[in-house]
Amino acid sequence: MANNAVIIGTGSYLPSRVVTNQDLEAEIDTTDEWIRTRTGIRQRYIASDNEPNSYLAVKASEHALNMAGVRPSELDLIIVGTLTPDMPMPSVACLVQKELGALKAGAFDLSATCSGFLYGLAVADKFVRDNRKMKVLVIGSEVLSRRVNWEDRTTCVLFGDGAGAAVVTGTRDRRGILSTHLHADGRLWEFLTIKALGTACPITPEILDKGWQYIEMSGRDVFKNAVRALEAVTWEAIKTNGWTSDDVDLLICHQANMRILDYLRERLGLPEEKVFINIHKYGNTSAASIPIALDEANRSGRLKPGMNLLMVSFGGGFTWGAVAMEW
Ligand code: COA
Repeated sequence: MANNAVIIGTGSYLPSRVVTNQDLEAEIDTTDEWIRTRTGIRQRYIASDNEPNSYLAVKASEHALNMAGVRPSELDLIIVGTLTPDMPMPSVACLVQKELGALKAGAFDLSATCSGFLYGLAVADKFVRDNRKMKVLVIGSEVLSRRVNWEDRTTCVLFGDGAGAAVVTGTRDRRGILSTHLHADGRLWEFLTIKALGTACPITPEILDKGWQYIEMSGRDVFKNAVRALEAVTWEAIKTNGWTSDDVDLLICHQANMRILDYLRERLGLPEEKVFINIHKYGNTSAASIPIALDEANRSGRLKPGMNLLMVSFGGGFTWGAVAMEW
């Protein structure tokens, strides 16, 4: 009999400092009205200097493990989707492993930008289908505020920090993860980048002056490609499972922009209550956005056993993907 992967615990963590649109109005040439009408964002959480990525990831993981009733020592694998690790080496996953005391677990980071959590779930799904006893901790965690140019109003208003996590294990029941769909198009990489701090360009005063250590984005190109890719992968997941859009009980989309979420909802013909939205509270938290939303939906009772859940993401690379589940 085939094994299926189920999520048995979710958790999330936000740093304590809230930065509202009004706070930004005082710092840069922007308005609450512009940010709200273009993006839906009202505030975002920003990590303090002593809260690196791994700190947020550990806190979210503790909540997920508590809900799952799983001890860190039982974990077999830790996967962290992130584009803002504490440092290039070691991985955030190894720091989380150490902090949790999950010494039996393998640990690695996965680089798929905002799709990192769904890519991580797809990897966990494969391991658990092989061995249903495995327990995998999948995390999406970001401190984007350190990679944002706070003088660039076209990007700094969009992003926030946070982390979310899920504990995945196996079952013989036909439920849990039903299908995973991963896509990428590296030809479009230049539309959304952090060009420096890797090995492609040296860290020189000239490079730092150009701001290549920060997120740069061609907003309209990202928007155009995001709506196209998200719609396509959503239909792909629906058709793969023999569903119609009516069969989707809850859609959790990467929280990048309210207008993207509205577009997707209209194209699918879904009522508002079937599309999860929390972008107004957190902004775009990249790989953390879907697991934070998943945890909120789970803890608030919005997700109920037997529901068809569809999670879809899009991000730099470009990467995009979907995970369909029976909750
Ligand atoms: N406050 C006030 N004005 C701003 C502003 C801000 N924070 N940011 C940009 N503007 C200005 C621009 O300078 C421009 O002014 P101009 O017409 O005088 O040149 C004007 O607003 C329109 O800018 P534009 O970039 O064309 O706006 P837009 O309607 O495309 O919206 C985004 C910008 C970023 C909100 C939108 O493109 C978007 O959401 N893109 C997708 C981003 C995304 O999701 N990225 C992450 C994917 S994982």
